[in-house]
Amino acid sequence: MFIDLDADRLLLKCISYDDAEFLYKEFSNEDVNRYLYGAEPCTSVNEAKQWIDFYLEQVPRNQHRWIIVLKSTGESIGTCGFHCWNKETGEVEMGYDLFPTYWRQGYATEALEQIIEYAKIIMYVKKIYAHISIDNIPSIKTILKQGFVKTEESYYEEFHGKKYLHDVYEKLL
Ligand SMILES: CC(C)(COP(=O)(O)OP(=O)(O)OC[C@H]1O[C@@H](n2cnc3c(N)ncnc32)[C@H](O)[C@@H]1OP(=O)(O)O)[C@@H](O)C(=O)NCCC(=O)NCCS
Repeated sequence: MFIDLDADRLLLKCISYDDAEFLYKEFSNEDVNRYLYGAEPCTSVNEAKQWIDFYLEQVPRNQHRWIIVLKSTGESIGTCGFHCWNKETGEVEMGYDLFPTYWRQGYATEALEQIIEYAKIIMYVKKIYAHISIDNIPSIKTILKQGFVKTEESYYEEFHGKKYLHDVYEKLL
């Protein structure tokens, strides 16, 4: 049920094992990982392949990831997608990241518009959640631009012995 998506400047390509090197580059980058307290940085291409295993589990599955490709050059510049999809309630969580070279050029906005529309029309999602560290201003701005609102739910994510406050944002579709 998951397909490649076409945006203005971007192609959102369903993840495959060919993306392992890019995934390693992306998630071993200090700036990309700065506020991603839920997971350790990726340490090898082999580990990236194990992450891809998760996104390629047989359908029906509760997660999917697209690789964000810049049409003009064919370069992979980031990823976005969904996890914890509850088909009964129509709720899902969204994640997204871009390699720092490509920040602040409207690419996340363009990619998220596509996958939110996909969630609504194809996945029949009713509510999307985003869990964001309160310090991750770029992510908060990005999600507010998509019409998400802050819920009353917040929680601490513990990482390397420290606790980081996160807010939960939601968007009704
Ligand atoms: C979050 C992230 C994907 C944003 O990507 P991006 O392509 O730079 O975002 P956009 O260019 O589409 O910008 C979206 C909005 O956020 C704002 N924004 C982005 N970065 C910002 C920053 N550093 N400071 C202030 N505002 C920022 C933009 O100005 C824009 O709002 P505007 O159009 O009203 O000006 C990117 O910063 C990233 O990959 N971060 C690391 C991974 C991460 O933290 N992912 C989210 C986990 S919850």
